[in-house]
Amino acid sequence: MTKTIHPIGIFDSGIGGTSIWKEIHSLLPFEDTLYLSDSKNAPYGNKTKDEIVHLAIKNTEYLLEKNSKIIVIACNTATTNAIKVLRQNYDVPIIGIEPAIKPAALRTQTNIIGILATKGTLNSELFETTSSNLISNPKIIEQIGEGLVDLIENGKIISEEMDALLNKYLNPMIEANADHIVLGCTHYPYLKPQIQKIVGSSVTIIDSGHAVAIQTKNVLSKHQLLNTQKRTATNLFLINKNKSVLSNILSDYLPSISIEEVDF
Ligand code: DGL
Repeated sequence: MTKTIHPIGIFDSGIGGTSIWKEIHSLLPFEDTLYLSDSKNAPYGNKTKDEIVHLAIKNTEYLLEKNSKIIVIACNTATTNAIKVLRQNYDVPIIGIEPAIKPAALRTQTNIIGILATKGTLNSELFETTSSNLISNPKIIEQIGEGLVDLIENGKIISEEMDALLNKYLNPMIEANADHIVLGCTHYPYLKPQIQKIVGSSVTIIDSGHAVAIQTKNVLSKHQLLNTQKRTATNLFLINKNKSVLSNILSDYLPSISIEEVDF
């Protein structure tokens, strides 16, 4: 069996990384995928670096046992805290996701950008390095999205609690004249319609999902791991808690995908 037919392994602390899976699946529809949703341990954002590294290793090893040919960390928090260790420990290509502050910094007209991300991402060394190495020098308003991942994991994307939190987090950015808002957590693209409503149509919302899909394709190609056969792909989702929330979020793709609740 050649490696090209092995799956792309993707993991997140929960269901949010499916926003990345959608981008990858739409760009690489013939690739098999295996998605791991570690919802039992979500959110990662308030955990220590050591805890996040430990969980990232657990998820990676699980995906490698299932023959993943590449690992996509569909989680900003896990990437910014653990990608270095994962790359040191494993031979397979490892793709990560980081908040898209570089494109936001390049495009801002007001020179003010807002970023919504987890505490783990905003406090990480990698984020600190990326944000302090920007060529332009925009004002960056950082906001921890405390509580947002919990609500999404509990199926409360549309809820009064969500509206209240989003208003609290975003209004100061708008009052400060931010014209770009970076979604630095893979759960947040699911909130984009609500966020756009709060911030208004003149504010651009940026996430890194499409860029990660392109990077995945490029890296697979570079390592001669792209599956070029035109075929029906197998897309398997494994979750260790609350299967129904994952089914709801992927309802547009049912029944062409399989979701299993397993212990890992
Ligand atoms: N989707 C994860 C991220 O991109 C959420 C982190 C969490 O579980 O707190 O950061």
